[in-house]
Amino acid sequence: MDEIEKRKKAREFAKQSLSKNKPLDWFEKLYTQAKEGMAIIPWADFEPNPNLVDWFEKNNFESRNKTALKIGCGLGDDAEFLSQKGFSVTAFDISQSAIEWAKERFENTKVNYIVADLFKIEESLKDRRFDFVVESYTLQVLPKKLRKEAVPIIANLVKKDGILLLITRARNENDDEGQMPWPLLKKEILEFEKHQLKIVSFEDYFDNEEPKVRRFRVVFRKI
Ligand SMILES: C[S@@+](CC[C@H](N)C(=O)[O-])C[C@H]1O[C@@H](n2cnc3c(N)ncnc32)[C@H](O)[C@@H]1O
Repeated sequence: MDEIEKRKKAREFAKQSLSKNKPLDWFEKLYTQAKEGMAIIPWADFEPNPNLVDWFEKNNFESRNKTALKIGCGLGDDAEFLSQKGFSVTAFDISQSAIEWAKERFENTKVNYIVADLFKIEESLKDRRFDFVVESYTLQVLPKKLRKEAVPIIANLVKKDGILLLITRARNENDDEGQMPWPLLKKEILEFEKHQLKIVSFEDYFDNEEPKVRRFRVVFRKI
């Protein structure tokens, strides 16, 4: 199987899961097959997200003695980046294989990696709230209905006065939604404001990927 075929698998798996009305089933399947060399995880660059790194370069954010949560942490690069910044980090993913892989990659990690589903997160984190929550690229792989359901859940994970940093693909109302990963609309981002999150900054820009991708990078503060 060539590289192109391996790459196609993510979309095929997503499509199959959606057609069975089980939109969260394909992540584990993809990570398992990728570990066996039978698929490629399109988002795994084995380095922290450049849009996250760039945000920290531009913002003098004090991270010592603060807790951070990485949602949908995949193979752990963003979580490790946050840990290096000085946060005490918890990171979760629905895929057990992703979490095992992240722990293998970062043997001496300080990050608390857990297998958990965002939609059942209270079972895993009880009432824990975090100073800094990062959601990058998970919402965009969820269908619209689940994206909407995710908003209050994510908002609830942020402590009072804490920050939510959200990074996602972006589109306008009249743009075609295209294929997964689905770019989000501004109005979907504004939904967070209904849950005690106040927008501190809203960036709408094209990143440095080739070809360039339009992104929203939004900072909210919990009031
Ligand atoms: C597009 S990937 C992004 C991963 C990572 N943030 C990155 O940029 O490399 C989305 C991740 O979210 C995870 N995920 C999807 N739905 C989830 C859910 N309901 N709860 C927890 N993790 C989920 C997937 O397994 C996957 O690792």
